[in-house]
Amino acid sequence: MNDDSLIARYRYGAQYVGDFQALRSDIAAKTFIPHQVEFQPPPRGRKICWLDCPYCYGGSAHDDGRRLSKSRALEVMAQIAQGGVKKIIFAGYATDPLNCEYIDDLLRATIDSGQIFGFNTKALKLSEAFLGQLSRPDIAPQSYMSISVDAGCNEVYNAVHDVRGNAKLYDRVLQCITRAGAARRANGNLFDLSATYLINGRNHDVAQVQRFIRDFKAAGCNMLRFAFAQPPRGIETADGVVPTADDVRLYGEKLRPVIAAADSAACTTMLVDADSDHDIYDKARTVPCFARFSYPTVGFDGWLYHCSQSSAPNFHGMAIGDLNSDDFWPLLYDYDGERLGDYFSACGLRMNQEGCRCDRKEHVLNARVIASGAFDDLVVK
Ligand SMILES: C[S@@+](CC[C@H](N)C(=O)[O-])C[C@H]1O[C@@H](n2cnc3c(N)ncnc32)[C@H](O)[C@@H]1O
Ligand code: SF4
Ligand code: SF4
Repeated sequence: MNDDSLIARYRYGAQYVGDFQALRSDIAAKTFIPHQVEFQPPPRGRKICWLDCPYCYGGSAHDDGRRLSKSRALEVMAQIAQGGVKKIIFAGYATDPLNCEYIDDLLRATIDSGQIFGFNTKALKLSEAFLGQLSRPDIAPQSYMSISVDAGCNEVYNAVHDVRGNAKLYDRVLQCITRAGAARRANGNLFDLSATYLINGRNHDVAQVQRFIRDFKAAGCNMLRFAFAQPPRGIETADGVVPTADDVRLYGEKLRPVIAAADSAACTTMLVDADSDHDIYDKARTVPCFARFSYPTVGFDGWLYHCSQSSAPNFHGMAIGDLNSDDFWPLLYDYDGERLGDYFSACGLRMNQEGCRCDRKEHVLNARVIASGAFDDLVVK
């Protein structure tokens, strides 16, 4: 049976901050500990991602060739754990965490430290060593693996992700998730297993959606989430790749009953339209930005960034620093805690200049902190 906190997290409603006044004091005193750190492990090979999804948030990411080495990544992970961070999310901006040759070591280190893990991945490959980690009896509660699928058959999978040819990638992902589902069952369902589906002009067919639901329930998922792609930063998308506001309404009307009918206690199945819920359709960013204090991000190049959506070399101008040469906590606390007004103004200006775009959790967190009023005297809204 799924609990309310899992459902809230998949509705972009996770409570990253409990006490806003305490957050403010902790930021000033440099005693805050981020709710989570996102780790975006470096890719194998020269190409940064194994797919070129046309809707990808990170489609305009630069690559300067630098990669975080395995030994330094494990050192940084140890620093993060020793400082008290309880949750590590493995994901990417323009990369995939399972396309990293040392991902098994990173997962082992996370579980060994007693930390919660999370994965956002396409799961095109899962090694035996990785599955071995997923079978461990000491996985921290609330750990999860979330696989973005966006289709219910091979042809539509390839169309949605701009894959040329007849590769059977949908079958491959389904096979990987079935194995992850078996590992989950074997250890008593210690982590959540979810599949997600971004609805657009290429995959909004009812039969397609029903096949996805049938297949991924059978694979052992306990959460299926449908949502709509946000316009990505800095790239033009072809028609049908990112739904317009009208598309969102039409697809929602058509698919909401189908999705609701599949909802069950064992596998929550839901459509989340966070842009309408939070009035952020096509909005670039919500500032002042509090991401650094809640979920800073280690990029594939080994730099420390404010968030998962500003984590490639083209954001070095507003990044926190370089973990290849500097340690995690000194970098994170490297600002003037006595001049927070100046800090937030300078950051906001740089973010506008660099043109970062918040994802939904980032809009929602920044808006909640701003609405709390705890920083009103420091920042111009
Ligand atoms: C950027 S991807 C990185 C991890 C992995 N490569 C993957 O695709 O799952 C992280 C999540 O963002 C989602 N995503 C990518 N571009 C998006 C967009 N423009 N709007 C909404 N979600 C997006 C993906 O579907 C995935 O669930
Ligand atoms: S959505 Fe994920 S898999 Fe697709 S290109 Fe972006 S980072 Fe790679
Ligand atoms: S994308 Fe949003 S959360 Fe990330 S740095 Fe920019 S304003 Fe902050």
